[in-house]
Amino acid sequence: MAWKTLDDMDLDGKRVLVRVDINVPVEEGRVTDTSRIDRIVPTIKDIVAMGGTPILLAHFGRPKGQPVPEMSLRVTLPALEAALGTSVTFVEKPSGDELAALPKGTVVLVENTRFSPMEEKNDPMMAKFLASLGDVYVNDAFSAAHRAHASTEGVAHLLPSCAGRLMAEELGALDKALGTPARPVVAVVGGAKVSTKLDLLGNLVGKVDHLVIGGGMANTFLAAQGVNVGKSLCEHDLAQTALDILDKAKAAGCEIILPRDVVVAREFKAGAANETVAPDACPADAMILDAGPATVAYISDVLDKAKTLVWNGPLGAFEITPFDAATNAAAAKAATLSKAGKLISVAGGGDTVAALNQAGAAEDFTYISTAGGAFLEWMEGKTLPGVAALEA
Ligand code: 3PG
Repeated sequence: MAWKTLDDMDLDGKRVLVRVDINVPVEEGRVTDTSRIDRIVPTIKDIVAMGGTPILLAHFGRPKGQPVPEMSLRVTLPALEAALGTSVTFVEKPSGDELAALPKGTVVLVENTRFSPMEEKNDPMMAKFLASLGDVYVNDAFSAAHRAHASTEGVAHLLPSCAGRLMAEELGALDKALGTPARPVVAVVGGAKVSTKLDLLGNLVGKVDHLVIGGGMANTFLAAQGVNVGKSLCEHDLAQTALDILDKAKAAGCEIILPRDVVVAREFKAGAANETVAPDACPADAMILDAGPATVAYISDVLDKAKTLVWNGPLGAFEITPFDAATNAAAAKAATLSKAGKLISVAGGGDTVAALNQAGAAEDFTYISTAGGAFLEWMEGKTLPGVAALEA
């Protein structure tokens, strides 16, 4: 797949519509994590350096097609201005002429695109209106590219379009991880439920050499093989699906790695009394909350031999200690190998990035995606409409 980048465009004197994703966490009127804002800075600065006027389009929350004051993008202005080191002009109701009259290089932020009911419907009228605001369209919102909305998809067909720096970086990193990866490739997939990751597991077994399954999902696989998992989180009704995935993996030559030992406790709370047992030795009144050290040792061996790692989801209940131990240890191992240049490691998904940050490993990963849902859909092998619309 090929797409244009900023370097292919003439932006001098142009109004440049830039779809960004600044759907950031906010508490008490303040942005608490500026990662997504920081990552769009190179695109905006480059557009200004090339003589363009960046007009930022973004959504914030899910206001369902009507103005909701708490979901105004105004709240992101201070963080955006701090990241850019320049003032940003906020526009509630933009008009093409008004924007054209702004001094060259002014950075503009338009109010939440989802305040209009036409945005999520990808209404051609809205796409046309957005196109009237600019001369060129840049999509820098990989993390919103799984949505076929007017500002992510529709407008891309109406103006000369290209990928922004962050979008190009995300696509390049993801291609290295699953498109044309150096082998062996390991995927780590964790999280609570198999039901939310069926497509993803189905796609991965055909693409990777080793698939580590962790978190609550692993319990479903263990139970499907006849293991008694006590009171653990488990989707017993998906037993057959889990067995089908194991069969598919076997046929594809993909090794599925399930916990070899597990940490069990009787309470789901930080510091709960716990013990490490074999997977088939979970007491009837206990629940599995983490993978044990033997599992981590095996994952470490596999990582030692691997060239590429793609990671989505924690291996245990990482939000409470000490059940974050397996996630932390495996993440630390991946970080060390990546830092030494021995492993290409790519991670994404909201929980995953939080877990890797908590483990202090995120910095040494080769690439951390800004995407949550879009990262999952990409791992499922789906075409993301916002990316497809950029195809040259
Ligand atoms: C995200 O936060 O993952 C993106 O901004 C997409 O948001 P959405 O799930 O509300 O479309």
